[in-house]
Amino acid sequence: MKILVTGAKGMLGQDLCPILEDEGFEVIETDVDTLDITDIENIQSVLSEEKPDYVIHCAAYTNVDKAEEEQDTAFKINAEGTSNVAKICKRLDIIPVYISTDYVFDGKKQGKYIPEDKTNPINVYGQSKLDGETAIQTCGKYYITRTSWLYGHHGKNFIETMIKLKDKDLKVVDDQVGCPTWTVDLAFGIINIIKEKKPYGIYHVCGSGHTSWYGFAKKIFELCGYEVNLKPCSTSEYPCPAKRPANSVMENNNICQNWETALKEYLELRCE
Ligand SMILES: NC(=O)c1ccc[n+]([C@@H]2O[C@H](COP(=O)([O-])OP(=O)(O)OC[C@H]3O[C@@H](n4cnc5c(N)ncnc54)[C@H](OP(=O)(O)O)[C@@H]3O)[C@@H](O)[C@H]2O)c1
Repeated sequence: MKILVTGAKGMLGQDLCPILEDEGFEVIETDVDTLDITDIENIQSVLSEEKPDYVIHCAAYTNVDKAEEEQDTAFKINAEGTSNVAKICKRLDIIPVYISTDYVFDGKKQGKYIPEDKTNPINVYGQSKLDGETAIQTCGKYYITRTSWLYGHHGKNFIETMIKLKDKDLKVVDDQVGCPTWTVDLAFGIINIIKEKKPYGIYHVCGSGHTSWYGFAKKIFELCGYEVNLKPCSTSEYPCPAKRPANSVMENNNICQNWETALKEYLELRCE
């Protein structure tokens, strides 16, 4: 089976592609230099030439705070770019797998979000990704995998930021809860959906269990054996350009392992 990956040089793409190959898929890696999703003719020509069975669409504008001032760019890539991918996939009968986000929700729900819950993004990035979801759904045959609090060995992420700051006095937000997700677990989650030919639709693919950013930071330092002056704070004490949902916890039906086990594995591999 042949799979084309967009945004293959990103944090997820760099873990996903080798895992897909190990799992026996033929993989075509593309990024903005070889397949620019804002250029529909470029997509048409690459996809008709490669004729993949699936497109795993990882390419995105992912700077959540900067998106507030760069709205046009965020929508051009995440909404229009994804609409381009959807149109060509539909035309060529290719199944798109779109990576979406917990930020499509407003965070006001008590309890875990399920795929059918009402979306209501509270920042530009979330709205642009939701527009991408809407575009993908026009394909009829599609998968949308919503993930959250993603980290991997090939990108800037919360764990690496915390480790860099370990010698400082740290205050970390304790009133936003969510599901930290390792890119490797997300990759296997996506592969399971494809291999098991699950019904088309929306899936939540994130670490099992949940924590706050403060709880996440505390666990990182505990597992690393660092003594850090770490204190919890509220969102109002740490203002950011983009609002974040207070509750990002998604029901994932155990598609991925527990976030603490995943974090331990990530840190062990990091030290090798
Ligand atoms: N990171 C998270 O916490 C998180 C959480 C939930 C969902 N997601 C979603 O998961 C997916 C993967 O995220 P990630 O963290 O791996 O993102 P990433 O590291 O920012 O990777 C995105 C890739 O897309 C490329 N790209 C940007 N514009 C493009 C264009 N016009 N055409 C083709 N490629 C383009 C980027 O290239 P440049 O670097 O050159 O711009 C980059 O290589 C994204 O869809 C994201 O929205 C991420």
